[in-house]
Amino acid sequence: NQGKLWGGRFAGGPSPELDALSRSTHFDWRLTPYDLAGSRAHANVLRTAGLLTDADHAELLRGLEVLGERFASGELQPDPSDEDVHGALERLLLEEVGPDVGGRLRAGRSRNDQIATLFKVFLRDHARVIAGQVLDLVGALQVQAEEHLGAIMPGRTHLQHAQPVLLSHHLLAHAWPLLRDVARLADWDARVAADSPYGSGALAGQSLGLDPEAVAAELGFTGSSANSIDGTAARDFVAEFGFVTAMIGVDVSRFAEEVILWSTREFEFVTLHDSWSTGSSIMPQKKNPDIAELARGKAGRLIGNLSGLLATLKALPLAYNRDLQEDKEPVFDSVDTLEVLLPAFTGMVATLRFNTDRMAELAPQGFSLATDIAEWLVREGTPFRIAHEVAGACVRECESQGIELHELTDEQFAAIHPALNPGVRDVLTAEGSVSSRDGRGGTAPARVREQVQEVSGVVADL
Ligand code: ARG
Repeated sequence: NQGKLWGGRFAGGPSPELDALSRSTHFDWRLTPYDLAGSRAHANVLRTAGLLTDADHAELLRGLEVLGERFASGELQPDPSDEDVHGALERLLLEEVGPDVGGRLRAGRSRNDQIATLFKVFLRDHARVIAGQVLDLVGALQVQAEEHLGAIMPGRTHLQHAQPVLLSHHLLAHAWPLLRDVARLADWDARVAADSPYGSGALAGQSLGLDPEAVAAELGFTGSSANSIDGTAARDFVAEFGFVTAMIGVDVSRFAEEVILWSTREFEFVTLHDSWSTGSSIMPQKKNPDIAELARGKAGRLIGNLSGLLATLKALPLAYNRDLQEDKEPVFDSVDTLEVLLPAFTGMVATLRFNTDRMAELAPQGFSLATDIAEWLVREGTPFRIAHEVAGACVRECESQGIELHELTDEQFAAIHPALNPGVRDVLTAEGSVSSRDGRGGTAPARVREQVQEVSGVVADL
């Protein structure tokens, strides 16, 4: 029973079928550096508590160091007899430092407090990586927004032409949710940092006078678990991480969908860079937005990982249950998915070429300036209810004649309503329309320039 951390009370070894089901080294082996760091911190508190001589302590640290180096070089591997990363590393440590010294390390800890702690440290590391990658994407949006400050595009609701907006304004509308996602990761991190489970033991705590706060500090936490049952049983930190990663996927998918639409022959709003698009094995002319499509698809996968996690946790009684081993693969998958998706998506965004002439040409079409007529009438003293009706009548007239609003003659305007004097023409351009929306958060060029600064300020504060 070499690779098992238990066995004393069993007359025979486990069946091969049980071993096959129970084994987790094929996915938890990547936690090795985190497990070793936890063991180092644990050795330190064992010594402080007087349970390790200085010589044994030094020998344990040496052994852990050697395992870390062998892992880094790719040489350290689990054995098929190992149940999980914890058992494998204990076996390997015993091989390195001998059973007398190596056998002292497990005192006062359980795999239950170990796994809860080191999974937190792993996720905190990756939360930082993902936050950095999301900020890179925000950076690409910022650069594109700054480079296209004058460009006007059709703004849409219900995917129909609604009102003209600045392209920069639209691009920054994708940056803000991503900044909130980064802030969510930071909030999550502060909560997780305050709660290091080491010292919780199997569920009831430990009796050996070990200092959980010292372990917490050494592992980069700000505090240790206040309740050892909660410390070993809680996985809301995993579910919350799963939510934020799913949310990032969903936020990215919304821009992805637009890139897919914008790159069609029908829209022709953007051209993808050759290095960031793909071809077809049969149709020689094809240039496909695969990065955006994969982003759209992977959002579904990230949502699935979160749903699976929540289903695993639902109605699970306290404290540790082996079900909890199922928390790792979905989150590892979410981490790996985002870490490969985000750099590709950012590269695609950074190299997008915008067809600003076509956007500008389409911006005033589809009667997208009807609201401007209504608001002009309001400024001239007409009640909005009437102004809305009058602008609607202008649209109806244009539709019956097959023309756009600015093509109505002065006589036709006056016939629709006497208040519609030729002054209304001032607002019947896309430029006039965007410039008039100059309240905070609006699409007027001065406001959008301000917004570019505001995004930079938020990024600097994160
Ligand atoms: N590998 C387990 C997990 O990932 C930790 C081991 C706890 N096992 C146990 N029998 N208490 O959750």
